[in-house]
Amino acid sequence: MASSPHSSSHLYFLLVFFLLLAAATAFPVTSEFELGRQSRIHFRVYFHETFLGPDNTTVTVVNMSLPNTFGDVDIFDAVLRTGPSKRSTEVGRAQGVSFHASQRDESSLIPLVLVFTAGDFCDSTLTLIGRMDTSGKADRAIVGGTGVFQFAWGNMFILMDEDIGE
Ligand SMILES: *[C@@H]1O[C@H](CO)[C@@H](O)[C@H](O)[C@H]1NC(C)=O
Ligand SMILES: *[C@@H]1O[C@H](CO)[C@@H](O)[C@H](O)[C@H]1NC(C)=O
Repeated sequence: MASSPHSSSHLYFLLVFFLLLAAATAFPVTSEFELGRQSRIHFRVYFHETFLGPDNTTVTVVNMSLPNTFGDVDIFDAVLRTGPSKRSTEVGRAQGVSFHASQRDESSLIPLVLVFTAGDFCDSTLTLIGRMDTSGKADRAIVGGTGVFQFAWGNMFILMDEDIGE
């Protein structure tokens, strides 16, 4: 997502799949962190990204014009929806940065936060970091969260990277 140099069309949907293990109990601590029951959550959200035009959700803030886009930086604020249609309910945003950190190919290092503003996870955030390779493969580590995602850990997988071009 965000970062792929697919700039010829204007709308991309990335279906992502989260495998989450949120919160932990097996923690023999007594402190202000009274941890709740560990539960596993799977869910999907759709990243709606626009790369061209006035409604673009990604801006390139550094363009070094080096081979493989090395050194470039993009910032994105994509819309999270419950489905692939533009009419699907918006549940939040995916905000982050794509650092073109490879000299050998156009892969990127991407830290991002999913900010939920509606639905089951309203007012919660999930923080992820990972890499996106040139094929669009972008498994990412969930490194934490807030709200219902406090103490979250797990992975985010992209199942599909489809250009709907609507
Ligand atoms: C994206 O939007 C910004 C302003 O919001 C604009 O300066 C930039 O040219 C746009 N990029 C593209 C590729 O349309
Ligand atoms: C970076 O600049 C080069 C040269 O001006 C241009 O060809 C290229 O499209 C730019 N890349 C992006 C992502 O804006």
